[in-house]
Amino acid sequence: MLRLDKLLSEQGLASRRELKDIIRSGRVSVDGQRVTNPEMKIDPERSAVTLDGERISAQRFHTFMLDKPLGVVTATEDRREKTVLDLLPPELRRMGVFPVGRLDKDTSGLLLLTNDGDLAHRVISPKSAVEKCYSAKVDGVLTEEDVEAFRSGLVLKDGTRCLPAELTILEPDSCLVRLTEGKYHQVRRMLASREKPVLTLRRVSIGALELDAALGPGGWKELDGAALCRVFS
Ligand code: URA
Repeated sequence: MLRLDKLLSEQGLASRRELKDIIRSGRVSVDGQRVTNPEMKIDPERSAVTLDGERISAQRFHTFMLDKPLGVVTATEDRREKTVLDLLPPELRRMGVFPVGRLDKDTSGLLLLTNDGDLAHRVISPKSAVEKCYSAKVDGVLTEEDVEAFRSGLVLKDGTRCLPAELTILEPDSCLVRLTEGKYHQVRRMLASREKPVLTLRRVSIGALELDAALGPGGWKELDGAALCRVFS
């Protein structure tokens, strides 16, 4: 059971305070009956809720794919910097979405945003071992020794040991890196440990979910259940 104002705010329709007033003014009906109590408890799976006669979705959780541009920080708010949430329209921000994991300010590409805490946990948790794939351009020439070092588990310059990861050389100075963990600045530090500093870094997939190339920097779209399943396959 869920409070009526909470159900409506999860759809990003208006702020919680505005929604209380909207409900009190009699614009909302539950199962055809006009209601005025914002605290009324309802079962979103069973009750039909309408606002001004329009049916409100019972979908509680929403997850979005964002093509994170360079120069934007992965945070919900920041006093100085532009954040990934600043790229979304107000109705999405009102849903309470937050970034799933983080990309550095100077990393672009696939970032998930959700208001589903369990989903975020499952994507990030080391137990899930969800594979993330990054495309990198480096200063230097990549070699088969680098591939082997990634495969056998790199030791970073500060002594941190990484799990085995896959390095695929695309061009002498560009590669794909697939890894299942998410240490701070991990890809940059892995390539730096091979004396191949990263020049550009872009995340291209999470699990089997690929970044939609049609979005472009700053573009976003909502993901359905089938797309979310790809994250875990
Ligand atoms: N590894 C990095 O070094 N940076 C990122 O943003 C993501 C992975």
